[in-house]
Amino acid sequence: MKHDVIVALDFPSAQEVYGFLDQFREEKPFVKIGMELFYAEGPEIVRQIKARGHQIFLDLKLHDIPNTVKSAMRVLSRLDVDMVNLHAAGTIDMMKAALEGLTRPDGTRPMLLAVTQLTSTSEERMQRELLISATMPETVRKYAQNAREAGLDGVVCSPLEAAMVHEACGADFATVTPGIRFADSAADDQRRVMTPEKARLGGSDYIVVGRPITRAEDPVAAYRRCVREFIG
Ligand code: C5P
Repeated sequence: MKHDVIVALDFPSAQEVYGFLDQFREEKPFVKIGMELFYAEGPEIVRQIKARGHQIFLDLKLHDIPNTVKSAMRVLSRLDVDMVNLHAAGTIDMMKAALEGLTRPDGTRPMLLAVTQLTSTSEERMQRELLISATMPETVRKYAQNAREAGLDGVVCSPLEAAMVHEACGADFATVTPGIRFADSAADDQRRVMTPEKARLGGSDYIVVGRPITRAEDPVAAYRRCVREFIG
């Protein structure tokens, strides 16, 4: 399994993204484009960042009826991104349809990941509001197994869940984990955080890092530190 640091480009406009990326002269970080940037700038931002030579995780978390997700994934497959995702709650049928839509005529496709339960959802709310009576670890494990059964490549999960996901779904099933902080940096609004080194030891294959890099005084130095701590 490949390991990499994915930088979350949580900026409101293309101008700010380019200002950030222009600071990287030697390396081309793997980047994540989320809803805010995609909805503000449209698919053109993906093409532009791809043309600069970055690998891209397009984090749009699709969740709809299987046919709609399949058609949407077909459109996304033409954007030449490297990773996309959806909600495992959409069912195995929806995940299978997504894979079909994502597969290009030449048989290639981006990696497809599932969100199990959002880390912002507490076990208490999941049980009381969503009427899921299982525990959070049981739910994450089952949703990951559903994603595996549908043929997906991995899940987005907490670094605290990565080892359990690998144990349930195999070492080759990717774990992509946000919620990463350096030992000496602020947690911001993340509740349960892990350092890059601990995430690696805990079984994370890719870590998603936003503010510790984007808001650092020297983002390039922070990115390099992250790579050093995660990959060695
Ligand atoms: O700034 P920070 O490192 O907290 O950014 C983490 C990134 O990962 C953000 O883009 C956030 O939306 C995303 N994310 C997360 N927790 C999840 C899923 C995605 O923090 N469970």
